[in-house]
Formats: sequence, structure tokens, C-alpha cells
Amino acid sequence: MAVDDLTEPVLPGPGASDYERYLRTDELLSLQPEPDMSAHRDELLFTTVHQSSELWLKLAWREVEEATRLLAGDELDAPIRLLRRASLCAQYVTAQLDMLEQMSPWEYQVIRKKLGHGSGFDSPGFREIRRITPALGQELSRLLRERGLSLIDLYVQGRAHEQLYQLAECLIEWDERLTVWRMRHYKVVSRIIGDEVVGTQGTPVELLGGLIKQKFFPELWDARNKLTELANEE
Ligand code: HEM
Repeated sequence: MAVDDLTEPVLPGPGASDYERYLRTDELLSLQPEPDMSAHRDELLFTTVHQSSELWLKLAWREVEEATRLLAGDELDAPIRLLRRASLCAQYVTAQLDMLEQMSPWEYQVIRKKLGHGSGFDSPGFREIRRITPALGQELSRLLRERGLSLIDLYVQGRAHEQLYQLAECLIEWDERLTVWRMRHYKVVSRIIGDEVVGTQGTPVELLGGLIKQKFFPELWDARNKLTELANEE
């Protein structure tokens, strides 16, 4: 019997090895500007951070979308695991912002001139996150309603509804991680282009600071206020 040569690729497609074929590394690595096409060598850093952020954001919103679909069928365990993944994605995307601060604010101006009207408001990842996240909150509300529970009951009774409690915590975690990203992004933007200027799509950077207050699940945050009031009354 012929023994397979394990070093030879068996998958179809371009690339010298199965690793390169499966991951389509030729295509992936051709997506960043090469030195001869770059206005500044830091374009590689800039595009790497943005492109990899888009990949993590895609994974995040797909997991949130699937979690919402499973919740609609009254499954709770798998959504909790998927939502933990989504929050981790948001943490990675936040951590990557550190790399942008390794660029000089003056040299970044060279790159900025090449961006046209390109703006993070058009980030496909964030657009999808904004589109699909509200439905997740609606599923938690439905599950609570069907069990005759308010959010306050859920938190006060805690372990009596352990799975639902974990789910509610996954939602607030997701909301918090997205806000932490916004806070970090605002500081990075302020540090690189300033906090009294307008962006490439005309948005004042100051307005980005205001977006930090936005919440996907305001009722989950408000429940904390009510719990504190309740505890004060006792
Ligand atoms: C040098 C680094 C960066 C600068 C100077 C910058 C600047 C800005 C500015 C000025 C805005 C306001 C909109 C406008 O352009 O007019 C904005 C919005 C935004 N940017 Fe960035 N950005 C940077 C990095 C990133 C990265 C790495 C991401 C990740 C995908 C990102 C995602 C976004 C998003 C999603 C918004 C919409 C704001 C929101 O929904 O809170 N940005 N950015």
C-alpha cells in the first residue's frame, strides 16, 4: 500500500502547502499595502490593526447572532458560551488599539490623507453589531416575561435562576466591553489627531466622547440603580 507523503498538499487551490491553501494566506497577505504602494511604512501597522479588528468583529457578531437564535428556541447554555466568546473578541479589538499609539501623530497625517471619506462609522463589523445586538436584549426580556420575573427578581433571587442570571451577566458584559472599546478608541483618536478636530466623515471627535454614554441594554444598567435603592430601603 502506498504511504501518503504528508509534506505534500492534498487540498485544492493556490498555495504551496495545505496550510496556505486552507487559510488562503496568499490572498490574506496581499491585502495590506506593499512598501512601493505605501505613503508611509506605518500603513502596514494601520491596516493590520483595522483588518484584524474587522475579523474579530465578524466573529463577535456572528456569535451574538447565533446566541440570539438559540435563545429564541429556549436554549440557554450554548448562548452563554457564545456570548463569552463575543466579549473576548471585543477585548482583543480593544487591546489592539494600543498598537496605533505606536504611530507618531505627525507621521499619521500622511496616512490620513489617503483615507478619503473613510470612517469607522462604516466599519462592517460595528455596523452588524449595532444591527443585531438589540434582538439579544429582546430575547432576555422575553425569557424573563415568560417566567414572570423582573430583572430585580432575577438579581435578588440570584442562584434560584442561575442560568438566566449568567445570561443577563453575559449581556451586560457584552455591552460593557463595547463601551470600553469606545472609551479606549476615543482616547486613541484624541492622542493621534486631537479632541477638538473633525474626522474624515465630518464627525467632531468630541461627539465620539459623547457616544461612550450609549448603552445597548439600559435596563440592565438601571437594574443596578434599583438594587442600590432597594438595599438602601432595607
Ligand atoms: C489612528 C486610528 C484611528 C483614528 C484616528 C480614528 C478616528 C475616528 C474618528 C475621527 C471617528 C469619527 C467619525 C469620522 O471619521 O468622522 C471614528 C469613528 C469610529 N471608528 Fe475610528 N479611528 C481610528 C481607529 C479605529 C479602529 C482600529 C477601529 C476598529 C474597527 C475604528 C472604528 C471606529 C468606529 C466603529 C467608529 C464609529 C464610532 C462608534 O460607533 O462609537 N477606529 N474614528
